[in-house]
Amino acid sequence: MDKKPLTAHRQTQPLKGHIRLPGDKSQSHRALMLAALAHGTTHIHGLLQGADVLATAQALKSCGVSITYEDENKCWMVIGQGTSGLSAPQQDLDFGNAGTGVRLMMGLLSGVGVAARFTGDISLSARPMQRITDPLAQMGVMIESSHKEITLPLRLTPPPQLLPLDYTPPQASAQVKAAILLAGLGAAGTTIIREAHPTRDHSENMLRLFGAAIETRIEEEHHIITLQGHPQLIAPFPTHADPLQIAGDPSSAAFAMVAALLVPHSDIVLENMMLNPHRDGLMRILQKMGATIDITNPRQQAGERVGDIRVRHSPLHGITIGADAVAAMIDEYPALAIAAAHAQGETYMQGLAELRVKESDRLAAIIAGLNANGVATQSNHKDDLRIFGAPEKNNIKGGAMVATHHDHRIAMAFLVLGLVAQNPVQIDDATMIATSYPDFTSDMAKLGVRFV
Ligand code: S3P
Repeated sequence: MDKKPLTAHRQTQPLKGHIRLPGDKSQSHRALMLAALAHGTTHIHGLLQGADVLATAQALKSCGVSITYEDENKCWMVIGQGTSGLSAPQQDLDFGNAGTGVRLMMGLLSGVGVAARFTGDISLSARPMQRITDPLAQMGVMIESSHKEITLPLRLTPPPQLLPLDYTPPQASAQVKAAILLAGLGAAGTTIIREAHPTRDHSENMLRLFGAAIETRIEEEHHIITLQGHPQLIAPFPTHADPLQIAGDPSSAAFAMVAALLVPHSDIVLENMMLNPHRDGLMRILQKMGATIDITNPRQQAGERVGDIRVRHSPLHGITIGADAVAAMIDEYPALAIAAAHAQGETYMQGLAELRVKESDRLAAIIAGLNANGVATQSNHKDDLRIFGAPEKNNIKGGAMVATHHDHRIAMAFLVLGLVAQNPVQIDDATMIATSYPDFTSDMAKLGVRFV
């Protein structure tokens, strides 16, 4: 695909107005997957129509699941096949850029006894998969990889009966947890996951909605999740009049949120944002940095807390953000880095090792992009970052081209930097933004921001 550069100019007008956020990527993947495994039809409203989620839909279709979009009621309709009704795909399952899609589907297809070969784009093919294949191998899945380091392409062949697993993931990863839980649906017995650092719990919430026997308790500072194998999953939203409502994605909200905080006199509302406590870390950290962010209309929706968020321009100051904050804002560091670049004083972030294995090496991409645009940083260890804020008028020089490395969040973050830089900031490629936020530029235009 041809690269599409995009430029952000200094924003002289405040951001004003309101937007309805795109569907949450994590919740969208999980809704499609559980709907596919349920008995009955599920109607889903607000599903993210980004390339990542569409890749998951396509993979499920290749395994015999019917997934259609009904234009008249704006709902996706998934006809569930039950946990033994999926068929082996005739071709490779290509997940493009979607780490969540491929990792969760490895667990799901293992659980339903379907062998498949998984592929992805250049970024996804460089990402570690051993964190998924190790526990799946312990459950009895055969893994075939042509590389010494386990990366895509990969072929997985599950045994006739999976073994249940009692597993303590070595890294804080909701994808690892979700893959094991989805596999655990097909295991004979109880699957247990012991999380030292709790991660987003959308899998648990969604499994509960579909009737799985799943429990979470806290023991010796670990979150312990237990799931009984071989449940009967029942579609809980059979009609389009009462569909499964997907919440707005806080990871996509991050960019407009930071833009409104930085551009003087801005005052915006982001509607329908997911407020899951494992996802609202950025909002809480920004508030500590001085941000005025208010929640209105809080409510429960499909097992998740959601609300509308009012964000007003606020002068920010740097703080120290420890490793304990990482899990609840793992995808938000690119946006946070831009806020820190415009804050008074230093912001110090710790525990960032996982940023190195996202869609790009995000720690390296953030440092390179900030430095190229005149923002000073320091990183003494492999997993920390100090950003020296330059909040005064015209202090962020800008003027550079930022390499996005096939990473949607690096792309959106540096467009936001351009709004408060002295010179325009250009990103080398905006195409990946469509993986998670296809309407990003039009939503920003609704708030008064135009990228060219
Ligand atoms: C996700 C988990 C996180 C996050 C990703 C979505 C999920 O990944 O970065 O964008 O939906 O489970 P890790 O599990 O690798 O931390």
